[in-house]
Amino acid sequence: MVEFLNMLIINQETLKQITEVKRKNGPEYWTDMRAIIKNDWEQLPKSNFKDFASLLSIPIINRARQTEFLRAVVQYLNVPGIREALAEPEFGNTEESFKTHQVDLSGLLTSHQRILQVGYLAFTNFFTKIKEATNILEIGAGIGDMADIARHLGFKGQYTCFDFPELLDIQKYYHENLGLENVKYVSEVSDLEPAELVIGMFSFTETPLELRNQIYSKICRSNNWLLGFANKIFELDNRKWIEENLIGSYLAYDVKEIPLPFWPWDGGNALLTIHKL
Ligand SMILES: C[S@@+](CC[C@H](N)C(=O)[O-])C[C@H]1O[C@@H](n2cnc3c(N)ncnc32)[C@H](O)[C@@H]1O
Repeated sequence: MVEFLNMLIINQETLKQITEVKRKNGPEYWTDMRAIIKNDWEQLPKSNFKDFASLLSIPIINRARQTEFLRAVVQYLNVPGIREALAEPEFGNTEESFKTHQVDLSGLLTSHQRILQVGYLAFTNFFTKIKEATNILEIGAGIGDMADIARHLGFKGQYTCFDFPELLDIQKYYHENLGLENVKYVSEVSDLEPAELVIGMFSFTETPLELRNQIYSKICRSNNWLLGFANKIFELDNRKWIEENLIGSYLAYDVKEIPLPFWPWDGGNALLTIHKL
């Protein structure tokens, strides 16, 4: 009981800190958030990490219904491995919380989080690209769902996660408990290399411009890209950066932007795919 009350106290304090960081929504957002996540990770039971206020509030774990992504996903239920990819792993929360947040898709137990992640691939029809990629670099992998999804879809190569050390700890722990192998975790730009496929869902475009340009100069020769981005976030003009860098550099590639009009915040959001022709 005392332990339970202590957890509540920690969470009250965490919620206050999160509200303050979100209120500012400025360039220090990720510096402040990673400290809050680190605190939860060190103090709360790791096996319930999917219930941490810090991870739910960003959101790194999505628990809101995403109707448009669900609609996109159900059109692809015949893709090999997609049902396994959609199934929400039971690991990472209490049994009660798992039951509360599961989504029953005609007998397939999934979650809003998985629907969103698989939905990014459905919106861009990236299933074959992910399956056939020889290696994948994911920038800002959140809790690391996409690596698990890629394996279920048939991806067999080396998967690399680039993120803050605090987030890499969570991804590594989750992946180990899901039995994922052949995943590398890096937080230094010097460890990055061009990849067959780069994935950066609402992450690469949340990095400060100086760091982003350093990352980009290391990986700009990558063959395929899947990005999610907000036009303006944390005072960053992503539209300008994307037009000046990605679209300009990939003239001999197939570049497609898919607007997400149902996500109007932060100047509007979109997905961007780049394929080597
Ligand atoms: C909004 S979350 C998105 C997570 C995941 N891609 C998804 O779509 O659910 C942003 C991710 O980018 C990472 N990130 C943000 N800024 C970063 C930075 N400067 N360096 C490395 N990773 C960063 C965060 O740690 C987090 O994993």
